[in-house]
Amino acid sequence: MKKEIDGEIFEVPRHVAVILDGNGRWAKKRLMPRNFGHKAGAKTLEDACEIVYDLGIEYFTVYAFSTENWKRSVEEVSGIMNLLRDYLVNSIERADKNNMKISVIGDRTRLADDIKDAILRLEEATKNNTGLKFTIALNYGGRDELTRATKDIAKEVAEGKLSIDDITEDVISSHLDTRELPDPDLLIRTSGEIRTSNFLPWQIAYSEFYFTDVLWPDMNRDNFIDAIRYYNGRERRFGGVK
Ligand code: FPP
Repeated sequence: MKKEIDGEIFEVPRHVAVILDGNGRWAKKRLMPRNFGHKAGAKTLEDACEIVYDLGIEYFTVYAFSTENWKRSVEEVSGIMNLLRDYLVNSIERADKNNMKISVIGDRTRLADDIKDAILRLEEATKNNTGLKFTIALNYGGRDELTRATKDIAKEVAEGKLSIDDITEDVISSHLDTRELPDPDLLIRTSGEIRTSNFLPWQIAYSEFYFTDVLWPDMNRDNFIDAIRYYNGRERRFGGVK
């Protein structure tokens, strides 16, 4: 979609995915505990949903907690889970105000029961909203997602519902947690790390990557515009020649 932003015309990516990184370093710079950074990061995420929608982005997907993040200290993990509890509850009202549809991807089985319930309530309450499609990856790992999808497909084959020759890329995509989302056009990672850390490995095959040194809690409207400007400088060929 073409859109004028602050006097410049941009082709705005339809789906932007973000690896939220740098909360810990943001807190450390302030001589504060890591969870202080996560709290700031959660607030930035609230603002980011409004910013990206205003910029014309339709789908916004964020990596909030990975299957590897359980390795962090008990104190940090429980701090993040408590933040998440507040976040999920507050999101119902915010999503209503902003017409935002919120979904969660990842393996929910390991999450606490009250968090699972809060996710279901939030998804149900926002399912008919037609504004930003906001997806939160929680206990998400791309390899775990592909493993779960492979088991589901194998089960369908074993039960005779699907034949091996009918397994196509589209069939695989339709068994992933992201089945309702288009592939990301742009992947952003904050805080200077140049890696994708098991985030949407299947889905980002043709995405453009934008890495910035900005720490997630500092990410603001101008930084998102910089990412879109970078995206506009790329020539997307999807393997073909232009
Ligand atoms: C990345 O920074 C942050 C995380 C791995 C997890 C927490 C994410 C949030 C609190 C934002 C969203 C919150 C909710 C509740 C949806 P890091 O800790 O890896 O930073 P560092 O690399 O500087 O240590």
